[in-house]
Amino acid sequence: MSKLGGKLEGKIAVVTGGASGIGEGIARRLVADGARVVIGDISDDEGEAVADSLDEDALYRHCDVTSDDEVAALVQGAAKDFGRLDIMINNAGAIGARGSILDITVDEWDATINLLLRSTFLGMRHAGRILVDQGEGGSIINTASIAAHAPGNGPHVYGTAKAGVVHLTQRVALELGEHRIRVNAICPGGIVTPLVLGAVGVGPEEAGAIAEVIAAVRPYPRAGRPADVAATAAWLVSDDGEFVTGQAITVDGGESVGPKWSDQMVT
Ligand SMILES: NC(=O)c1ccc[n+]([C@@H]2O[C@H](COP(=O)([O-])OP(=O)(O)OC[C@H]3O[C@@H](n4cnc5c(N)ncnc54)[C@H](O)[C@@H]3O)[C@@H](O)[C@H]2O)c1
Repeated sequence: MSKLGGKLEGKIAVVTGGASGIGEGIARRLVADGARVVIGDISDDEGEAVADSLDEDALYRHCDVTSDDEVAALVQGAAKDFGRLDIMINNAGAIGARGSILDITVDEWDATINLLLRSTFLGMRHAGRILVDQGEGGSIINTASIAAHAPGNGPHVYGTAKAGVVHLTQRVALELGEHRIRVNAICPGGIVTPLVLGAVGVGPEEAGAIAEVIAAVRPYPRAGRPADVAATAAWLVSDDGEFVTGQAITVDGGESVGPKWSDQMVT
């Protein structure tokens, strides 16, 4: 399955949340570019199916990213199984707690922060230790969101966690740069995945209709696909992205800039 001579040939990657959506897209693209991938997720059947479809180039490991022990085991196991680690993609997530600040419970707040922000800290911490010990550099990508910069794009805890992901990404890029470890975030928006369908309360059978709604309001006239985010990730972790670190790169068809242009609009 690996592409001999691919830009990522010989690289070993861990992708959390790789059983579905954006993470699955990233896992598939990294393998297509020559890497071998360990997928960590809690959706075991889906994760196994993705790994099986990638043959010997991918393994699936159960990993709840809110658990320090499980993230450590995922990352250390990948380095053991494949002999090294080069790329860490901290991507697993969900919308988490919704509702007004007046109603949300402390437990709901904590669970969402743990899933989206603490997990990113854990992934960078464990992968960073291996990458520093290897002494050959590496690349870390954290999936943030356009909600990190525009609070209207998700529940308040979600956006707060994603803003934290961007800040932590940039701060850790400062810390690990001397080791030639690059740390970047990708901020997707409007990528049609189970997360987005669930956020608007519909199932996969409505994916086409939701994509049309997204395309109608976005400057670039189609909804996003996991492959769009995966292409950016593949570039960032390759040698072509070598001089890029500490960045939050938006992949959203222009949504964060503004709505589709119209000369009927008056400000
Ligand atoms: N789809 C979008 O438009 C969009 C926009 C901005 C940010 N994101 C972010 O992209 C990431 C991936 O989302 P997606 O849209 O692909 O959603 P998705 O639901 O398709 O995939 C999320 C994956 O994360 C896994 N997961 C959830 N909780 C987990 C846990 N505790 N431990 C391990 N794995 C867990 C799920 O099982 C699933 O496989 C998330 O961090 C999300 O916040 C998505």
